[in-house]
Amino acid sequence: MLDIRKFSRSEILVSPSILAADFCELGRECDEVVAAGAELLHLDVMDGKLVPNISFGVPVISSLRKRNQALFDVHLMIDRPLFYAPAFAKAGADHITFHYECSDDLDQTVDCIHAQGCTAGMSLKPATPAEALFPYLDKLEMVLVMTVEPGFGGQSFMEDQVLKIAAFRREIARRNLNCHIEVDGGIGEKNVNKVVANGANVLVAGTSVFRHPEGMVKAVKVLHDAKELLDTAL
Ligand code: DX5
Ligand code: ZN
Repeated sequence: MLDIRKFSRSEILVSPSILAADFCELGRECDEVVAAGAELLHLDVMDGKLVPNISFGVPVISSLRKRNQALFDVHLMIDRPLFYAPAFAKAGADHITFHYECSDDLDQTVDCIHAQGCTAGMSLKPATPAEALFPYLDKLEMVLVMTVEPGFGGQSFMEDQVLKIAAFRREIARRNLNCHIEVDGGIGEKNVNKVVANGANVLVAGTSVFRHPEGMVKAVKVLHDAKELLDTAL
């Protein structure tokens, strides 16, 4: 089982969101993006309640698990993550992120994810301040800053969320924690330098990777190439 703790905060990790893949070609496109250099696969699960859209669930993840060795980065945009986390762990999740805005107890949900043998992450919608997650940082392996309103791929990057990335970077450094900072939503060539310079090291990208006009190898390379800026940010 792959473990995000084996990677350091000073590495750039690319996590393509399969929402932008062609679902008829899903297995093959996931193989292709991992061969192109992506370390993670970002799997966006939506329940139509926490966010206004429905995507896919356990069966899609367990099918992909049978043929793909990447680190499965499951993003649960669902209202009851405590109830469903064990099923996603069994389906093959390596890392599970859930939302601060969900209905379940946050500490219990983190503990449940860990008890299933996965690493845990917490995410927040654009209107939620970074400080809301500070009390949980010491037990999380990753925080996920949304740079769009969660629910749909292909939206425009929200510039004002960059300050939130920087706030997490400062707090994680101040407390000397081992917590990755992931960004998700509208990430690509135009803004990768900015998010990395502010401290993000795990980059989710759907449209800019699966729909890149020059192909996935080029798309993944563009994201990894921001590494230099991370060295100065940390
Ligand atoms: C949005 C999802 C994202 C999204 C990213 O709710 O969490 O992971 O699919 O896709 P792009 O990169 O196209 O914004
Ligand atoms: Zn996501």
